[in-house]
Amino acid sequence: MIVDYADKALTQRYQLMAQTIIPRPIAWIVTENEKGIINIAPFSYFMGLSSKPATMIVSIGHKSDGSEKDTLKNIKESKKCTICMVDEEHLESMHFSSKELRKDESEANAFDIKTTKIFEDFPPMVEDVPSAFFCEFYQEIELKGSKTIPLVVEIKQQFIDDEIITNREKITLEYAPVARVGKSYALLGEQITPPKIP
Ligand SMILES: Cc1cc2nc3c(=O)[nH]c(=O)nc-3n(C[C@H](O)[C@H](O)[C@H](O)COP(=O)(O)O)c2cc1C
Repeated sequence: MIVDYADKALTQRYQLMAQTIIPRPIAWIVTENEKGIINIAPFSYFMGLSSKPATMIVSIGHKSDGSEKDTLKNIKESKKCTICMVDEEHLESMHFSSKELRKDESEANAFDIKTTKIFEDFPPMVEDVPSAFFCEFYQEIELKGSKTIPLVVEIKQQFIDDEIITNREKITLEYAPVARVGKSYALLGEQITPPKIP
């Protein structure tokens, strides 16, 4: 079967891409608005981009009424975000936090998601996540013809739970992140050692 994207509506394209480009890591993004209200939401159009500058990219769409999602608005205004990595323990609250709330409502309160402040000048991280990146807004990408806004953020600090560090000298990490697969979630399966290239 060949799918011509020219014939496909936006939702069909989304469904095809989201089921094929898998698994996708989930950025559980914490931001703060000008009143200090904590916003938390998951995003899976998310990927590491470069190590120098240490950057990641996340694509943010719009709310159902066409207005900016709170995460996008907050990052553009405050220039800061904290991106948490999600393990199985946080799957339910991460999923709940995708609910569209009013901008003056906090997912932290609505879904009893506990947060902890590590750096005064960055939004808090979700408590007990395996890792979190403290980021600054770097660049907005102009994706011609798109309503989705790809944002590049630069990692300034990373929190790593001591429990996922298997070698402190080399900073080797091992944890079980939740990934997005279509509309479902998956945990990492079997890991395969790369074959030796002849
Ligand atoms: C696992 C998961 C991944 C998601 N990925 C994205 C994404 O990449 N981009 C996006 O715009 N929305 C994504 N969403 C939807 C947002 O989480 C949702 O619109 C949320 O209400 C945005 O909240 P905000 O307005 O507080 O920023 C995702 C939802 C879930 C459950």
